[in-house]
Amino acid sequence: MRMREQLEAIRREALESFSAAADETALESLRVRFLGKSGSLTSLLKQTGSLPAAERPAFGALANETRIALEDALAKRRDALHAAGAARRLESETLDVTLPGLPRAFGRKHPMNIVLDELVELFVGMGFSVAEGPEVETVYNNFDALNSPENHPSRDPQDTFYFNDNVLLRTQTSTVQVRTMAGMQPPIRIVSPGRCYRKDEVDATHSPMFHQIEGLVIDRGINMGDLKGTLDAALRGLLGKDTKLRFRPHYFPFTEPSAEVDVSCFMCGGKGCSVCKQEGWIELLGAGMVHPRVLEMGGIDPEVYSGFAFGMGLDRLAMLRFAIADMRLLFEGDVRFLRQFV
Ligand code: DAH
Repeated sequence: MRMREQLEAIRREALESFSAAADETALESLRVRFLGKSGSLTSLLKQTGSLPAAERPAFGALANETRIALEDALAKRRDALHAAGAARRLESETLDVTLPGLPRAFGRKHPMNIVLDELVELFVGMGFSVAEGPEVETVYNNFDALNSPENHPSRDPQDTFYFNDNVLLRTQTSTVQVRTMAGMQPPIRIVSPGRCYRKDEVDATHSPMFHQIEGLVIDRGINMGDLKGTLDAALRGLLGKDTKLRFRPHYFPFTEPSAEVDVSCFMCGGKGCSVCKQEGWIELLGAGMVHPRVLEMGGIDPEVYSGFAFGMGLDRLAMLRFAIADMRLLFEGDVRFLRQFV
C-alpha cells in the first residue's frame, strides 16, 4: 500500500501548507506544487497503471476524493486570504475626512492684467470687441500695410527681431489693425491687447518683450472728436473721473494727424510728484486718424469711411497705476511682489 501512504502524505502536507500560506501568491505556488500538471498529486495519479488491476478502482476513488478535498481547502484558504487582504487595505487606506485640509495658496491677477481687464471692460462697455493677432508676424503687416516708409528706423534689424526678410516678432499691436481690415468691412470697433518685441536692453523702463493695447474704430464720419471722447471716457474710467487728457502733435506713419496723449497725473492731480517726475502730466499713448493710405491698403474706401486708432503700453500703464518703479519686477514672477496688487 505504498501508493496509498504516499497519497495520504501528500494530502496531509498539502493541507498543512495551504493553511500556513501567508498570501495569495504563496497559495498559488502551492496549488502548482500539489495540484498542477506536474504537481505531486498529479504525478502520483499517473502511476495508477502500475497497481494491480483489482486495486485500481479503490485507489482511483480515493485519489479523486483527495483531489476534491485539496481543491476545496485551497479555495477556502484563498477566500480567507483575500478577505483578510481586503480588510487590511481598508484599514490602511481609511480616510479621515474630519482632518483639517492642506491650505492651498490662491493665485491672483498679475498687476498688468488688473489694468488690462479694467480697460477692456471699459472699451467693451462702449461697444468694442476684442481682437487678437499673432506675435510672429509678416513684415507686410507690421510695417508695409501700416504705411511705414522703407527707411523708417524701426525697420532696422538693430531694433527689430527678424526671422527672415519677411517674418518678424511684431514690434507693435498695430498689426491687428491690418488683420482686422483684411477680415471685415466697417463699422469696425476693436481693441487688441498683446505682446510685442523690440531689441531693447533690459532696464528699469525697457524690456525686449512688452505689452500694448491697440484700438481701431472705422465707420462713416468718424472724426478727431470721437477719438478724444473715447479716450477720455476710457482713461477717466481707469484712472479717475478728474483725469484730464492733453493731445500733442506727433508723427506716426499710419495716422494723419497723429498725436501723443498725456494724462494729468493721477497721483498728484497735476501738481507734480515722483510718479509724473514733477511734470503734472504723464505721456501715455499714441493715437491719430487712420491714414487714408492705410485704409486703402486694407481694402476700405477712404472717400466713404474714416477712422481713428490708438496704442498704449500696458506695462507702463500698470507701472504708473501701481507706482512700480522698475519694469523688471513685472516679469520676474516673484510672488512676494505680485501678492501686493488687487
Ligand atoms: N504702434 C505705436 C507704437 O508702438 C503706437 C500707436 C500710435 C498706435 C498711434 C496707434 C496709433 O494705433 O494710432 O509706438
